[in-house]
Amino acid sequence: MKYRQFGRTGWQVSEIGYGMWGMGGWTESDDKQSLNSLQTAVDLGCNFFDTAFIYGNGHSEGLLGQLLKNNPGKQLYTASKIPPKNPVLPDAKLNDCFPEDHIKEFIQKSLGNLGIDCIDLMQFHFWQDTWAEDDRWAKTMEEMKRQGFIRAVGISINRGQPWNGIRTVKTGLLDSVQVVYNIFEQNPEDELFPVCREHNVAVIARVPFDEGSLTGTLTLDSHWPEGDWRNTYFTPEKLKDTLMRVERLKTILPAGMNLPDMALRFILSNPDVSTVIPGMRKSHHAAANLACSEAGPLPPETLSTLKNHRRV
Ligand SMILES: NC(=O)c1ccc[n+]([C@@H]2O[C@H](COP(=O)([O-])OP(=O)(O)OC[C@H]3O[C@@H](n4cnc5c(N)ncnc54)[C@H](OP(=O)(O)O)[C@@H]3O)[C@@H](O)[C@H]2O)c1
Repeated sequence: MKYRQFGRTGWQVSEIGYGMWGMGGWTESDDKQSLNSLQTAVDLGCNFFDTAFIYGNGHSEGLLGQLLKNNPGKQLYTASKIPPKNPVLPDAKLNDCFPEDHIKEFIQKSLGNLGIDCIDLMQFHFWQDTWAEDDRWAKTMEEMKRQGFIRAVGISINRGQPWNGIRTVKTGLLDSVQVVYNIFEQNPEDELFPVCREHNVAVIARVPFDEGSLTGTLTLDSHWPEGDWRNTYFTPEKLKDTLMRVERLKTILPAGMNLPDMALRFILSNPDVSTVIPGMRKSHHAAANLACSEAGPLPPETLSTLKNHRRV
């Protein structure tokens, strides 16, 4: 496993981290299987774990707490997220979504779920860039840092809006941003990444497999049990379009490489990324994904071809 500097924090994080949404809330999750997969990742050198209170109302955080207990003395970085008090609509006010008492309450809830005294990285789960000028969030997080409850502060940028955090990065008050970045969604490269580079803000690349399509395992018949949110993400129209794109990608796979490997190595090829956090509930997925670190960046000709496969 290779490690990268996590922005200005100075932490050395595994370039492949761990996304823990699925095991907290998606259907067909199995805690024993998830814990085995998490342990496989630790054994293979993964040291960065991304969870959130809303991933099963603390369930995913609880699994991470269990992993920490099972690995005493190991440096494992914990990243969680504060849910908004109200929906983060375009004209939402900071104080309606993240008032001071709410921030403090949810930091304590996450600490309790994780069973630890200090969370390495606390992120705002949704964001509006207009809040950059209202520094109440930063003052509250500074107080939480001073009191030793958190070490660093990040925002998770809303899906499809990589520009909606740039002003906040420029305030110099952030340690990290988390953003959707994959072969289909390359637009964080346009404006967000250069600003993060300039301000030494760490980048967490999320949803590397486009929620599963870039693993090459979906078909036109793919459907999930009722209540699974992927039914709303992959509407029949979107699924059809996505599968056509996936088929085109399969034709450019370098010899000996499979689609999930190409998807992860595409992200690892970008030095602006501090860590990529695939969701993986199965040990064999964790082992295959973590092996991509040693395989390294993609060949330049593949990278250049992949520029033509971006959807946005
Ligand atoms: N607003 C936010 O802050 C936000 C939103 C979305 C996601 N996230 C974070 O980003 C993380 C990653 O996104 P995601 O989990 O939604 O989606 P993802 O990483 O794009 O895809 C996860 C899916 O890929 C499958 N998979 C993983 N490795 C595979 C392999 N080698 N071969 C075949 N299939 C494989 C997983 O299966 P199994 O699970 O069955 O192994 C799972 O179904 C989340 O877990 C979460 O931590 C944050």
